[in-house]
Amino acid sequence: MTQDELKKAAALAALDYIVDDTIVGVGTGSTVNHFIDGLAAMRTRIRGAVSSSEASSARLAAHGIPVFDLNGIEEIPLYVDGADEIDGRFCMIKGGGGALTREKIVAAVSARFVCICDASKLVGTLGRFPLPVEVIPMACSHVARELARLGGQPRVRENFVTDNGNLIIDVHGLTIADPFTLEARIDQIVGVVTNGLFAARGADVLLLAGSEGVERRL
Ligand code: 5RP
Repeated sequence: MTQDELKKAAALAALDYIVDDTIVGVGTGSTVNHFIDGLAAMRTRIRGAVSSSEASSARLAAHGIPVFDLNGIEEIPLYVDGADEIDGRFCMIKGGGGALTREKIVAAVSARFVCICDASKLVGTLGRFPLPVEVIPMACSHVARELARLGGQPRVRENFVTDNGNLIIDVHGLTIADPFTLEARIDQIVGVVTNGLFAARGADVLLLAGSEGVERRL
């Protein structure tokens, strides 16, 4: 199977976790696009979705799935999203698509986070994938210097502006032994909006697609 076929298999397995007559939290990325397409076939069973990006909102709307403003909603039973890396404790690096801030917000409001991945995303230690950090534009140089002091090599993502009008710094060369501490440490840098470590609120369920099928890990 190709990597995209594996992503689709993981995404379709997440449809089993849908709670009827509720609003579904929807992440961003190529794996989630398969989830949205699968969700379209069962759209009459749900009230609609809360989305983590303009791209996902547009795809949901194209399928006729109502997209709700998060501010009107107290709790979402299920959030489905991909990851760039996930470890054995279900801590993740996210934000390869630049949607990390809205993803973290929707995940924070969700009771259950189901992560959908092809098997290449599972790692022993996070950090081979560059860690995305969303920054307020005027703070970009300051934040980059601070990230370098933490031992990484920061690079501003070229020709990219987030849905929130900010920039992304991708931090290369990190070996993240303690994602909980690093997540909190980076958030303390003035000018950082969010970093792509999802440790404090990691995934609850991992649907990992490999050549043998989709493994469900709790
Ligand atoms: C977007 C994300 C995505 O979940 C992550 O980049 C994985 O993407 P894909 O499913 O395309 O491999 O965090 O901000």
